[in-house]
Amino acid sequence: MTLPTVHLGTTDMEITRVGFGAWAAGGSWEYGWGPQNDEESITAIRHAVEEGVNWIDTAAVYGLGHSEEIVAQALKGIADRPYVFTKCGMIWDDDGEISRVARPETIRREVEASLRRLKVERIDLYQVHQTPDDDTPVEMYWETMAELKQEGKVRAIGLSNHSALRLEKAEQVAHVDSLQPPFSLIDRTCAPEIDWCARNGAGVIVYSPMQSGLLTGAFSRQRVDSLPEDDWRRRSPDFTGGLDANLALADALRPVAERHGVSQAAVAVAWTLAWPGVTGAIVGARRPDQVDGWLPAASLELTPEDLGEIAAAVERTGAGRGPEHP
Ligand SMILES: NC(=O)c1ccc[n+]([C@@H]2O[C@H](COP(=O)([O-])OP(=O)(O)OC[C@H]3O[C@@H](n4cnc5c(N)ncnc54)[C@H](OP(=O)(O)O)[C@@H]3O)[C@@H](O)[C@H]2O)c1
Repeated sequence: MTLPTVHLGTTDMEITRVGFGAWAAGGSWEYGWGPQNDEESITAIRHAVEEGVNWIDTAAVYGLGHSEEIVAQALKGIADRPYVFTKCGMIWDDDGEISRVARPETIRREVEASLRRLKVERIDLYQVHQTPDDDTPVEMYWETMAELKQEGKVRAIGLSNHSALRLEKAEQVAHVDSLQPPFSLIDRTCAPEIDWCARNGAGVIVYSPMQSGLLTGAFSRQRVDSLPEDDWRRRSPDFTGGLDANLALADALRPVAERHGVSQAAVAVAWTLAWPGVTGAIVGARRPDQVDGWLPAASLELTPEDLGEIAAAVERTGAGRGPEHP
């Protein structure tokens, strides 16, 4: 199937408006999603690609390398492979203890490990996952990222979870090809960073557009209470505090979804794509049928009436944080 595409910032990549998010494919680790079957992850990724999704987002740290290996297995034998985006900057020791480190030597080690696990000749978008725990200046690690691009190890470079101030500093060193911020109807706090990208020719691929499942209509207080012990969402403030308001907001998406003949999940994702400056949304799925649920967002255009109705629901429920309208 051919899905509409848009340029990722000023890069030469034309991406579909939804990409497959492979966090859950990492399986069991500190930030795992409860039991996850590798075969189902692989089938879900392949299904998304067969349906026309042309990029996958993963990270070295997801399952401590496991997600990247699963992505490689899923893409094996696919001639026209999708773009593969991954991240550095979260490293782990022999005990699996994770720290946020982005120094020239760690990034260089990480890129080689990711290339090996992903079995690709070049990473299409390489992103710094988080700001480091120490005071390593962004200018220092961004210089290394720019070198990797010049050397052809990566095609484009991006930042994730970085403030507009840090984006500005990075831009003085080399162009920021894209930003990966959290963004959903519940978490709208990165609107200033998205605006910075729009003004500076950087692409924006937003993450957790369905607030990690909360906006899909598949959640209830009972389901939250019965999440497996090893599902990170049990510890997430969005699934604990303010849950009633968040579920009420998810409910308010149902009439919009019914009008368009799509799922609430698709409406939640389409809402992020309607925000000025957003290039694409990274959407997670644990099984192929979940891909079918959100895929219509790739071409769904919400009307001004839909957006007005959703904005009214945000105000009425008081759910989430950040500006309500662009
Ligand atoms: N840069 C960063 O720091 C960062 C942080 C977070 C995420 N990300 C990226 O963004 C991607 C997406 O974020 P995310 O996975 O947190 O959130 P998301 O896309 O908002 O939600 C994905 C989850 O929603 C549920 N779901 C998916 N499709 C569904 C459907 N059709 N109906 C009902 N439920 C459905 C699944 O979990 P259940 O079935 O278990 O409910 C799935 O794992 C990640 O995979 C990752 O690549 C990056």
